[in-house]
Amino acid sequence: MSFARSLLRVKPAEQLSSEGSHSELNRTLGLVPLVALSVGATLGTGIFVVLAEAAPAAGPAVVVSFVLAGLAALCSALSYAELAGSVPVSGSAYSYTYATLGEIIAWICGWCLLLEYGVSVAAVAVGWGGYLNEFLQGTIGVTIPDALAAPPGEGGVVNVPAAIVVLLATAVLLLGVRESAWATTVTTVLKIAVLVFFVAVAFTAFNSGNLTPFAPAGVAGISVGASAVFFSFIGFDAASTAGEEARNPKRDLPRAIILSLVIVTAIYVLVAFAAVGAVGAGALGESDASLATALRMVTGQGWPAVVLALGAVIAIASVVLTVLYGQTRILVSMSRDGLVPPVLARVNRRAVPARNTLLVGVLVAVLAAVVPLNQLAEATSIGTLVAFGLVNIGVVVLRRTRPELPRSFRTPLMPFVPLLGLALCAYLITGLDAVTWLTFAIWTLLGLAVYFGYGRRKSRLNAPAE
Ligand code: ALA
Repeated sequence: MSFARSLLRVKPAEQLSSEGSHSELNRTLGLVPLVALSVGATLGTGIFVVLAEAAPAAGPAVVVSFVLAGLAALCSALSYAELAGSVPVSGSAYSYTYATLGEIIAWICGWCLLLEYGVSVAAVAVGWGGYLNEFLQGTIGVTIPDALAAPPGEGGVVNVPAAIVVLLATAVLLLGVRESAWATTVTTVLKIAVLVFFVAVAFTAFNSGNLTPFAPAGVAGISVGASAVFFSFIGFDAASTAGEEARNPKRDLPRAIILSLVIVTAIYVLVAFAAVGAVGAGALGESDASLATALRMVTGQGWPAVVLALGAVIAIASVVLTVLYGQTRILVSMSRDGLVPPVLARVNRRAVPARNTLLVGVLVAVLAAVVPLNQLAEATSIGTLVAFGLVNIGVVVLRRTRPELPRSFRTPLMPFVPLLGLALCAYLITGLDAVTWLTFAIWTLLGLAVYFGYGRRKSRLNAPAE
């Protein structure tokens, strides 16, 4: 096989599906737990913290930023849904690009997903710490000092709460998917309830004067805001990492992905509108536990802020749990393909990939302890946007190369929707920091070194071809 052809070899969709059907993972998840998994992985630090960071730049038009970011996510979700219905295995965008665009692109995609999942867990965990402090202050009147609750560069030494929540989630995952899926469903319902509570209270103080000027920094402000809040949509595809644990993946995965996105977009637009209307875009950005602070400002009382902070602490912990879960399953797929060492796919008697889970958990805990939130969030976003861009290309390619493949869901308006998705992903990347681009370039080079040093030689696709 020529060098170029070996890099672009694809893994046939049938092979992916049949490997999935012999999977050692248990098929326990129906539509409701799958939606809970995706919504659970999505509602978190983005709406609870990043909304407030983006609001001062975009002004009240941050609501429009959410719609723009949501549109990029929606187009990509439709592409995801089609691919999830034709290649329903664990591994998400990675498996889909393997079946469509070839091994090297799949590898880059998987490498990006390490940012989307692994690094975002760290980002989310940092947001958790802010609300934990708000909760502690509101109930027992103490806060964890900055030295132990913030990373170097933000006035601290190490972010202990962020590391602890990651390690706790790791322990839960080691107990097995059944318990984790159940816990996820409960916490997802709880976090929706908490956000509805926020909206209800904030609307009592709604002041339309806070909505003017609507877009103080114009289109540029809205764009930067959209790039920042894109982070809050990441995770809606989490159900696609559970393809092999879904009872009826071809039917339920596409539905779960789209339904999750519709639910979170509606919630975000409402929360952003209520928050800005209640306290104004500028005031929102002044605290680490911004939604709780907003409630204290508008009610003049402590208890609503405590209720919200408690909800956020539980809610954000569940994001950590579900996203960490997704990360371990992506590594299982990559390992099964021979691109990373086999030990990462080995499961124990509880059908849990235990060593993989431990390794990911510890690495993410370290990141959460020492890197600031905005850097983690931006790194997550760029990785995700590149992966989504590839998924949008993949769906168009698969229609051409494998038109006959059964598809339980078809992306509408082909190829307009995936191409719009691709353009929006590119547009959102331009709104990220230059430092983020540089970090991403280094990360990609590192990934290529790993691929050429290990994955290319060990790939399972070598066996039949050579
Ligand atoms: N969407 C996830 C969150 O906002 C990453 O926490």
